[in-house]
Amino acid sequence: MIKILFVCLGNICRSPMAEYVLKDMVKKEGIEENFYIDSAATSTEEIGNPVHNGTRNKLHEMQIECGNHIARRMTKEAYKMFDYIIGMEERNITNIKRIVGEDRENKIFKLLDFSERPRDIADPWYTGNFDKTYEDIVEGLKGFLDYLYEKNKGWDLKNGKSI
Ligand code: 4NP
Repeated sequence: MIKILFVCLGNICRSPMAEYVLKDMVKKEGIEENFYIDSAATSTEEIGNPVHNGTRNKLHEMQIECGNHIARRMTKEAYKMFDYIIGMEERNITNIKRIVGEDRENKIFKLLDFSERPRDIADPWYTGNFDKTYEDIVEGLKGFLDYLYEKNKGWDLKNGKSI
């Protein structure tokens, strides 16, 4: 089981988008039983709030549902619980480390570092461009899945062998 936590500032725009898009991708690949996928915020700004309409609408357009997701803040314990803690921009990485401390087990990543063009994912709360957010997130997630396949070579993800 690979446990992944996506993290952004508010947990209402980018990290829930990444959570539900990856859940959809692994389901379509038939490998969802190998994954535990969640998302959380670094700030307390939006705690208890539902997913931003921009994210909800874009996911709906792509026929991906995000249910009754409610924003919550990540905890220090998340570092023990998850294998990958993936932020959306550099500022998230700084804030994640403020919460969990030093990254002793190299679990903290930035999503687009898995792409061929490492960069931040802009905050759609400010840009209003959820199409671009979606494109960036899909690019990062494809790179991340490629990374996992490469790293877990020899393991039979497709045929549901436990990993
Ligand atoms: P997110 O977007 O980090 O992608 O969920 C934001 C949500 C809320 C705020 C900023 C960014 N805010 O300032 O409240």
